[in-house]
Amino acid sequence: MERTFVMIKPDGVQRRLIGKILQRFEEAGLKIVAMKFLKVTQELAEKHYEIHKGKPFYESLIKYITSGPVLAMVIEGQNAIERIRKMVGATDPQKAMPGTIRGDFCQHIGRNIIHASDAKETAEKEINLWFNKDEIIDYKMDDEKWLYE
Ligand SMILES: Nc1ncnc2c1ncn2[C@@H]1O[C@H](COP(=O)(O)OP(=O)(O)OP(=O)(O)O)[C@@H](O)[C@H]1O
Ligand SMILES: [Mg+2]
Repeated sequence: MERTFVMIKPDGVQRRLIGKILQRFEEAGLKIVAMKFLKVTQELAEKHYEIHKGKPFYESLIKYITSGPVLAMVIEGQNAIERIRKMVGATDPQKAMPGTIRGDFCQHIGRNIIHASDAKETAEKEINLWFNKDEIIDYKMDDEKWLYE
């Protein structure tokens, strides 16, 4: 089992897409193990997007991510990191395949409604950045025996 960090960005919240996005993860058999709704501080935004510091879109990215509440979560499942990146689709919605979240719901790279960790190391780093250990819940889903052999 693998855990990944997922965030519905301010535009996803404002466009009332939370329900539709969560439905996709639930229907895929993925398990939510942590979730919180928060307004991202400047400090958290800068830490989260540290890797993009100095790039031309950095300032607008920080402004975007701190512009309104986001839904942050940790999702668990077999191969969850890669699986969710595939479900999210390409960074630029114009290049994202139909059927992916970005391919179905967005238009512009600067308003791509969702974030998901891109690798094992970043997933671990982001989970620790956004959540305390006691905010992540270990529990069993009743349908696990029907989802996994
Ligand atoms: N050229 C760009 N112009 C505007 N915004 C951009 C551009 N490139 C990236 N971004 C923004 O920065 C975010 C982080 O870029 P990154 O390259 O990590 O893409 P990603 O991993 O697909 O997205 P995320 O990290 O948000 O899941 C993108 O999701 C997008 O919101
Ligand atoms: Mg990224």
